[in-house]
Amino acid sequence: TSDHLRHVDSMSILPSGAGRISKLNALILGDSLASEEDDLIFPSPSFSSQALVPSPQKYMEMYSRSIKDPAGFWSDIASDFYWKTRWGPQVYSENLDIRKGNIKIEWFKGGITNICYNCLDRHVESGNGDKVAFFWEGNEPGFDAMLTYSQLLSRVCQLANYLKDVGICKGDAVIIYLPMLMELPIAMLACSRIGAVHSVVFAGFSAESLAQRIMDCKPKVVITCNAVQRGSKIIYLKDIVDAALTESAENGVAVDVCLTYANELAMKKESTKWKEGRDIWWQDVVPNHPSACDIEWVDAEDPLFLLYTSGSTGKPKGVLHTTGGYMVYTATTFKYAFDYKPSDVYWCTADCGWITGHSYVTYGPLLNGATVVVFEGAPNYPNAGRCWEIVDKFKVSIFYTAPTLVRSLMREGDQHVKRYSRKSLRVLGSVGEPINPSAWRWFFNVVGDSRCPISDTWWQTETGGFLITPLPGAWPQKPGSATFPFFGVQPVIVDEKGVEIEGECSGYLCVKASWPGAFRTLYGDHERYETTYFSAFPGYYFSGDGCSRDKDGYHWLTGRVDDVINVSGHRIGTAEVESALVSHPQCAEAAVVGVEHEVKGQGIYAFVSLVEGVPYSEELRKSLITTVRNQIGAFAAPDKIHWAPGLPKTRSGKIMRRILRKIASRQLNELGDTSTLADPSVVDQLIALSDA
Ligand code: WT7
Repeated sequence: TSDHLRHVDSMSILPSGAGRISKLNALILGDSLASEEDDLIFPSPSFSSQALVPSPQKYMEMYSRSIKDPAGFWSDIASDFYWKTRWGPQVYSENLDIRKGNIKIEWFKGGITNICYNCLDRHVESGNGDKVAFFWEGNEPGFDAMLTYSQLLSRVCQLANYLKDVGICKGDAVIIYLPMLMELPIAMLACSRIGAVHSVVFAGFSAESLAQRIMDCKPKVVITCNAVQRGSKIIYLKDIVDAALTESAENGVAVDVCLTYANELAMKKESTKWKEGRDIWWQDVVPNHPSACDIEWVDAEDPLFLLYTSGSTGKPKGVLHTTGGYMVYTATTFKYAFDYKPSDVYWCTADCGWITGHSYVTYGPLLNGATVVVFEGAPNYPNAGRCWEIVDKFKVSIFYTAPTLVRSLMREGDQHVKRYSRKSLRVLGSVGEPINPSAWRWFFNVVGDSRCPISDTWWQTETGGFLITPLPGAWPQKPGSATFPFFGVQPVIVDEKGVEIEGECSGYLCVKASWPGAFRTLYGDHERYETTYFSAFPGYYFSGDGCSRDKDGYHWLTGRVDDVINVSGHRIGTAEVESALVSHPQCAEAAVVGVEHEVKGQGIYAFVSLVEGVPYSEELRKSLITTVRNQIGAFAAPDKIHWAPGLPKTRSGKIMRRILRKIASRQLNELGDTSTLADPSVVDQLIALSDA
């Protein structure tokens, strides 16, 4: 297998960003740089021999079929699911070329199914009702719970019946604002059972952000809990929801019901603020409902959920996924990328508030009948060994997390890992941002004892599931590379003009042809869908990411090329942070850029111009940061405020972010041409204030 994979000097093709991070880590760890990205890491023969896809040849065979005959390939897989009515004669239809008319993607149209049925009832009916669906681990060690597939089904049905009782019908939106209690995936599944469209809002978002989403999708019901303990802090979610509901009501969007789970471990019921008539305790109503509930059968193209994500303007985008293609795609990617076997115990550290928690905590694993660990807490609480304690406790065999967590635990030292056995681990996974080679190696060598392949999965909220990912067992890996496309996916790298480049190259990552898990539109704004994703390079879906491909065809993601930054795997639009900053009465103007951050991948660096006459002060700096926390959420708080008497602008008034990025990363000798600036002297002023 190694012959056709030549030894490459990856440093030359490694994206500059990832290269710099790896240098940083090398300094921290005292690694030698030279061999860092050079080697191929082969799956062990014992792993490969049991793997679903045991060799590159087998991958190539399956991949070729998926490209030559997508309809046949995907209908064979889809046939393993339950469909009340099989899809029509056309398995899929698509137009990804804006020049030929509206963008349209459809898979399995005419097929009638239900994803909740396929996640739960199907397994219970085939005799697996007693298998554990969820192991829940609370924030505090020692607090845990579990649900079998049958029990989970009953819980989902009770909530589904309640939602029907309060008038939720097929197509209605429901907002879910919950921490990682089992009630969160239960709520998602209850919605899908009755054809309602869930929109989970990550419970770290502020009241403002929640209100914005409520006003956009106008749910009849919001599901939340009174409070949650995360790490050593208590977060009063119900207060945040109250503020959001007040704001949306003032703007004409009234929510009828706020179903509130009483999380008494974090907060007493009695201390919770209450609005009679609107607020209802989950425990007062849901358990009284029947534990069987009829399925609402839906078309494959009926909406399943909306998930808001950041783009390059201030307004979040409601990414809409439909039922059939998403179901088939998340299940299949989960199965192959993690080499899933029924005996596995799977843990993904993501929160259901992000796409990873939709596709790979909830739907993908449950569709496979997997046992899933749901963890409420913070991965370093009460100490840096918590993850491995949980791995040993539940005998986790597949562990899927983000590079930011790997880097932060790596800094704490190997002893926290080595005190636990981790012998149940079989496959590791990474997602959210490029994983730098030294973090990859630590994850591989220390966490996985050099036994467990790492699936570095590249994908996006928009893609529904993995697009580029290793298949453990098939390919030798290169630390830091997401390797090759998943079945049915045709990634291409294009230059500025949108021309595909072959062979070893760098450029913009696009995809030609659709795949079943692709998003179908942006809620209420199909035009924005078309202009954001399909106009830059007509004929292709444009991901917003840069990518290089090396001599062996391995893909190396290099990060966003648009105004989106990736902080600890959380996607944040620079425009959103800027608009939060300028809402501060003393801020005249703001420009935000991403800057490399040792642990978070990227940090948020904000240049701020103050209103005439307002002096710089530490207090003001803090108050600007608080403003962003309040408007977006704590995870979007700037790491650095850089006082800016003026911002570098072209004569037409456009801020030159290229220059700001260089100043932020102190690459002052790489500022480039500043002569086109309206006032080149602002650059010197900014440099002078660098450490102010
Ligand atoms: C952006 C999508 C997809 C789930 C989590 C984030 C970056 C994601 C990788 C990876 C390099 C990655 C990209 C992408 N990204 N996974 N394995 N290697 N970059 O979802 O919030 O929609 O963000 O995350 O830049 O565009 P998201």
